[in-house]
Amino acid sequence: MIITIDGYIATGKSSVAKKLAEAIGFIFFDTGAMYRTLTYGLLKHHINFHNEEDLKKFLDSFDMDVKIYRRERLYFYEDEDVTDKIRSREVTEAVSEISANKAVRDKLILLQRELSVGVNAVFEGRDMGTVVFPNAELKIFLIGRNEIRAKRRFDEIVQKYPEQAKNLTLEQCLEDINRRDHYDSTRENSPLVQPKDAHVIDTSDLSLDDVVNKILESHASLT
Ligand code: C5P
Repeated sequence: MIITIDGYIATGKSSVAKKLAEAIGFIFFDTGAMYRTLTYGLLKHHINFHNEEDLKKFLDSFDMDVKIYRRERLYFYEDEDVTDKIRSREVTEAVSEISANKAVRDKLILLQRELSVGVNAVFEGRDMGTVVFPNAELKIFLIGRNEIRAKRRFDEIVQKYPEQAKNLTLEQCLEDINRRDHYDSTRENSPLVQPKDAHVIDTSDLSLDDVVNKILESHASLT
């Protein structure tokens, strides 16, 4: 069975997907981390992704690895642990434009479908229920009020990446999430849109457990 969770930035997608997957014994895939790792690789090798030939060469050999350590996921690129590096400001600033590229999406969509074969999994991202797994058994779409999402993202950066938080304000955070959400929602390839058959959950005033429980109820009604 495949469950998809799509939605806007800082609606809690990753935390919800992780907790849900643990509750029902499914594997969990954070596809944003895949786009971030690919972006990191392009930046690392100073590849101009507008150059089709260079991009193709890079994509043909692109690979990444995920390892679970103490219940946390670690992301590896060329044997380097990039778990923190893919959350850097450079990667965050570049990832949306790179994710909008068709060749990039084709590569990662293929990888995501390969990962789904023969497993029960929760896939979290932007186009999981619309493009990658249109036949998923359960589709969730998370939304939330802008100010709440900005505050959540701000608090997360302060807590996890204090270096990055030094010159960051709440207003900048709000601007950044609005910019990325707008870009993701209006791009030509696989835009972020609500799947018609998705259960929509506004997470603004809900705890993580509340959201997971709502999804578990929908899941229980399917099984
Ligand atoms: O989820 P996260 O914010 O880490 O994702 C980083 C970026 O990757 C998003 O802003 C979006 O541009 C891109 N992305 C995407 N499709 C997905 C997952 C992420 O385009 N399925």
